[in-house]
Amino acid sequence: MTIVIKTSEDIAKMRIAGRLASEVLDYITPHVVPGVTTEALDKLCADYMRDVQGTIAAPLNYCPPGYTPYPKSICTSVNNVICHGIPNDKPLKNGDIVNLDITVIKDGYHGDTSRTFLIGDKVLPHAKRLVQVTYDCMWLGIDQVKPGAHLGDIGAAIQKYAEKAGFSVVREFCGHGIGQVFHEEPQVVHYGKAGTGIELVPGMIFTIEPMINAGKRELKAQPDGWTIVTKDRSLSAQWEHTILVTETGYEVLTVSAGTPPRPERYLLD
Ligand code: MF3
Ligand code: CO
Ligand code: CO
Repeated sequence: MTIVIKTSEDIAKMRIAGRLASEVLDYITPHVVPGVTTEALDKLCADYMRDVQGTIAAPLNYCPPGYTPYPKSICTSVNNVICHGIPNDKPLKNGDIVNLDITVIKDGYHGDTSRTFLIGDKVLPHAKRLVQVTYDCMWLGIDQVKPGAHLGDIGAAIQKYAEKAGFSVVREFCGHGIGQVFHEEPQVVHYGKAGTGIELVPGMIFTIEPMINAGKRELKAQPDGWTIVTKDRSLSAQWEHTILVTETGYEVLTVSAGTPPRPERYLLD
């Protein structure tokens, strides 16, 4: 029930796990095209993690209290799916948006990161705007991270920007502490009030992973017990990084050659 402050040995291993998770996204990127099934993407990622990286896919058989074991190695959340979409045999269509969420375990440590991809050349402007605003939200949250800041500063920055864009923030799922455990304290919610919540301390590691809906924030679970969709069927986007609190600010741990650059300027400024 307490927040684990990571040692320099822990941090060195979290850097490796974070880079490897991001490298799975780099590897899969050229395959994320119209006509491919999310099941095929899952298989490619599973093989890459096992055979090339020597990592373990953390989602496979992951079974939090009240859940059935997660059946695949990655999460693939298409269009109105908010999170935890299970790879299936339905081909991606030109114009879809899809979040691929990768969590690897290397040497006992977890790296957790996701990106939202635009499929083909027919993604509508309002969908592109949602994906970009969500990316901005993640980075506005990351920019709050430094010793002495509060967890609420992250949520407040994200909520303010998402709502200014006319979008809504998902409440029921949030970022999380991460290390030798996949989901540990603290919970990092993506809404709230600046100055509230625990104070950040060097050595904390947690994810920031806003889920932003184009419509209302309400959600519902599908009968499979995992897939979470928007209740109003509106589009939803998500981006995720794993972040270390340093003495002076933050370090993004989920970085690799293909990591998209941070925004040069924010869309709504
Ligand atoms: N990777 C997700 C997160 O960011 C968790 C997925 S749990 C799974 O926290 F079982 F659905 F894979
Ligand atoms: Co996460
Ligand atoms: Co994730």
